[in-house]
Amino acid sequence: MTYDILITSATLPDGTTTDIGITGDKITALATDLPRDAGQIIDATGDLVAPPFVDPHFHLDAALSYGTPRINASGTLLEGIDLWGELRDIATVDEMVERALTYCDWAVSMGLLAIRSHVDTTPDHLNTVTAMLEVQRIVKPYLDLQLVAFPQDGLYRSKTGRENVIRALDMGVNVVGGIPHFERTMEDGRASVKDLCEIAADRGLMVDLHCDETDDPMSRHIETLAYETQRLGLQGRVAGSHLTSMHSMDNYYVSKLLPLIAEVGVSAIPNPLINIVLQGRHDTYPKRRGLTRVKEMQAMGIPVGWGQDCVRDPWYSLGTGDMLDVAFMGLHVAQMTSPAEMRRCFDMVTQVNAQIIGLDGYGIYEGATASLQILDASDPIEAVRLRAERLCVISKGNVVSTKPRPNATLSLPDRPGHVARRHQA
Ligand code: FE2
Repeated sequence: MTYDILITSATLPDGTTTDIGITGDKITALATDLPRDAGQIIDATGDLVAPPFVDPHFHLDAALSYGTPRINASGTLLEGIDLWGELRDIATVDEMVERALTYCDWAVSMGLLAIRSHVDTTPDHLNTVTAMLEVQRIVKPYLDLQLVAFPQDGLYRSKTGRENVIRALDMGVNVVGGIPHFERTMEDGRASVKDLCEIAADRGLMVDLHCDETDDPMSRHIETLAYETQRLGLQGRVAGSHLTSMHSMDNYYVSKLLPLIAEVGVSAIPNPLINIVLQGRHDTYPKRRGLTRVKEMQAMGIPVGWGQDCVRDPWYSLGTGDMLDVAFMGLHVAQMTSPAEMRRCFDMVTQVNAQIIGLDGYGIYEGATASLQILDASDPIEAVRLRAERLCVISKGNVVSTKPRPNATLSLPDRPGHVARRHQA
């Protein structure tokens, strides 16, 4: 046999049509009219075939814990942090592993095959780290799980905050996280950014900080993050997650800030589902929704990806693991409504996110890792509009999930017997 799997007549995100030959865990051929000689042939005529979704910002240690030990009554970020502070000390490693594996099952069924998860390093027992490293090992054959050492309560607010970040990195976590706006003072926040970037530089690691997740327009740790990135030569290895204070910053200051971020190659990861729920909680009206300046950053060439952040946890009671939900919400909140902008929202949850977290072999080209998805949509915009069903998901050369098309059977007088959600094709 020429191929293990042959996908015929695939429509790629750029609109070209091609067959895709897969051998082992690699895409080995990409052309029209490939020989129909394969262990499995999948007809994708009229369907969008895209590389898998990538979530660059998630909290897998807390996922699917909603209601344990209680719900977040106020719905605020701070009550969520308090609630998580209770849960992380009573949840066992086994419970966290089981919840995380269930979430990874959901993710795979949604074509989400790479996740960067922040892991809370605050408690000295580091059960969260032990659990997430175990999950990373188990899912490795089918899902790329990247872990970030994340001092949820601040690097300097607890006696062992810094020490535990180092311990987590020594255990095998390989991205440096932080939360400068949650340190006791602006000065401590600034110092934490410098400290964390130096740790990353010493160890040759990437950096991804929860940065300025606040409505305070004076929270400007992103400026320090950009400065330290330049000073330490970390260009292309640093991301600022959330950046919600930028929503409220003075326009003149932002006109100086964005060129600095662009110059040093820092990426941005807004999380629209969560930011619009958590921000503006101190406002009367108008109520800010706190999304960072997505289109303005993109216009400067800054990589901006959509992250998911939370699914059924102390901060967010909803969520499904569907990055198309994230793109759909981001499109609305950032008002990315032109055809090019809607398309870009799909790119943000695929190739831009892959670039931000540094995934190797990602995409659909000869020699790429054979991970892709077939969607019940004609193109990326329709995929976002429908949050299109993932008909088939292939991870590293194996079919890992299949679903039927979600068309309805109608019983109406003088109307067709079936209705399809797709409008084109
Ligand atoms: Fe987060």
